[in-house]
Amino acid sequence: MAARDDRLLEFATERQAQYLEAIWQEGSIRAAARQLGVNFNAVHKGYQAVLRKAGSPAEVVPVEANAQTYVITSAVNATKAHAGFLRTLQLYCSLRGARLMVIPLRYQNPTNRDAKRDNEWWDSRLVPYLVSERTKIARDLIVLADIKTQPTAVNPLQKWQTVTGTASAIIGHPKIALKTVATNPGVPAKLVMSTGACTVENYSDTNAGASGKFHHTLGAVVVEVDGPRTHIRHICPMRDGSFIDLATKYTVKGAEPAPRADGLTMGDIHAELASPIVTQATKELAELIRPKVLVLHDVLNFGSASHHAKFFEKFRRHVSGTSGVLHELKVTARHIDLLSGLADKTVMVNSNHHDHFTQWLEKAEHALDMENTLVFHETKAAMLRAIHEGSYCDPFQYWMDKLMKHGDRLLWLKPGESFMRHGIEHGWHGHKGPNGVRGSTKSFATIGAKVVKGHSHGAEIIDGARSVGTSSLMDMGYNTDSPSGWTWTHDITYANGKQTLIHCVGGRFFRSDAAMTKEFAA
Ligand SMILES: [Fe+2]
Repeated sequence: MAARDDRLLEFATERQAQYLEAIWQEGSIRAAARQLGVNFNAVHKGYQAVLRKAGSPAEVVPVEANAQTYVITSAVNATKAHAGFLRTLQLYCSLRGARLMVIPLRYQNPTNRDAKRDNEWWDSRLVPYLVSERTKIARDLIVLADIKTQPTAVNPLQKWQTVTGTASAIIGHPKIALKTVATNPGVPAKLVMSTGACTVENYSDTNAGASGKFHHTLGAVVVEVDGPRTHIRHICPMRDGSFIDLATKYTVKGAEPAPRADGLTMGDIHAELASPIVTQATKELAELIRPKVLVLHDVLNFGSASHHAKFFEKFRRHVSGTSGVLHELKVTARHIDLLSGLADKTVMVNSNHHDHFTQWLEKAEHALDMENTLVFHETKAAMLRAIHEGSYCDPFQYWMDKLMKHGDRLLWLKPGESFMRHGIEHGWHGHKGPNGVRGSTKSFATIGAKVVKGHSHGAEIIDGARSVGTSSLMDMGYNTDSPSGWTWTHDITYANGKQTLIHCVGGRFFRSDAAMTKEFAA
């Protein structure tokens, strides 16, 4: 509710003063517009104009006590809503008791004939859901509905990564983007993301218009407030407006159990330092979405003998009994056995931490490391035999074949080997970018193909490239003394080929009633 502030009246016209009185009396812009019998946009515009004149910061509207689930999308002015998607969103909200929030955006389309007459309108079906106030919907999450980003902006998150302080932020934009922002050690990284749109493509034939059309994505963000935790993920519809959220498929006709998810790409594993919280939460997620394929990055940490560990770290491991390579390989084998039970097939992506094993074997001085000498020489002999026979021996795979109970469930990708599902490349870890340069989500966004990669340990979406986070402990020793943007993030590819990043917060990836919706659908 907007608090009364008589100071604002000094900056208001007669009409704007009427709006202010109505807003203070009714408690919201929407209710004020209803009471005055005028258009919501007119009241909102008048209110914002007064705030600007008075030099007040954009108002933050507090959370409604009874709203615990939100669906947030954006709408371009002078453009029709996607009928199927809007109807399905409405149905989703009614089934889940969610509030639909639509952030109005403004685009000057010089080739839109309707726009020439009057472009200050939004599809009438969307008007009841339009929100233009900055709205805090959870303890740590703010919807920046007061910011009208340009729908053709290439990077919608630019400039808005710090505006919400330490709280996460959702911004309205027809393109889906996501970034983590580093916070102090021990504090969960904040997420900044854009929504996707619920209006159809309607762009000019200019350079900017063509770019906007290419990146226009139907979509929305689902927010589940769960006590002190907040779960956030995207939903993206098919052409008919239907979409899958976790284990439930929603159409204009209703809800039904979704087919099994096609794939689950976990955040980097680093098995010896795997977070028990994430492992348990992943089991719960996998039981719900039943992925056919599990994709794993950086499974072997190789902290036992890594070249990254210097003298004091090596001694610390020696004292704590974690400097044995065979010991780490056994721990890793047990962990993959456990994870591989979550899907029909588990894909092992060639990763830089796996390479640390090979790099250790390359150095002759390690032959004198008595604690690890058996592993060193046995592995080296196996690799040399393979080379002599004209074949290839992956040292990590060699030991997993020996130590795992369910090694037959694994599909090992060789360096550079592709693993495509639904036109999305899952075979690159991300440590090497295009043309062998250092990899980043941004560099993978330039190649045109859709990619899900690991390596960065923080969630990110840039155009067709997305990065999962980590499944390890947040404190891995070398990262304790700097702000961290690491997140516990996995990527789901649903049966229809649409994707979402999903984040583990407070030991869970979703609020429990999200799983119950599937039962409702059944
Ligand atoms: Fe990693």
